[in-house]
Amino acid sequence: MRIQWDYRYSLGVPELDNQHIKLFEMVNDLMSGIESNFRHEATKGALESFLQYAQEHFSTEERVMQAAGYPGYDEQKTEHQKFTGKMNELTAKVETDSDVTSVELAAYIMSWIQNHILEADAQIGVFIKEQKKRR
Ligand SMILES: [Fe+2]
Ligand SMILES: [Fe+2]
Repeated sequence: MRIQWDYRYSLGVPELDNQHIKLFEMVNDLMSGIESNFRHEATKGALESFLQYAQEHFSTEERVMQAAGYPGYDEQKTEHQKFTGKMNELTAKVETDSDVTSVELAAYIMSWIQNHILEADAQIGVFIKEQKKRR
């Protein structure tokens, strides 16, 4: 399984779009690592890098929303926090519980990121475009 970034995911905000593209690449790398062997250190490293970059991205996105006065800021921030919490929980489970496979973890990340961009982040793009028109 791989995810492919295309124009449907574009918010028209280059800083955020570039980070989303990078997140897609990192998730694909993670999946490749997991498919070859999750328990290798390199794959754990890929998971850590992904989580770290996701945090950086959430901070950037939250800063962009605040600067624009985006009304859905709190909702977005809650979604980011929930994802981070769920990721930490699943990562811990993958290490200890054989019922949760690392493929499931990566599949969860893939579907979350696609849905979150298409549904929640897309609205930030719409808001910023409308705001520019009004100026
Ligand atoms: Fe977001
Ligand atoms: Fe985002």
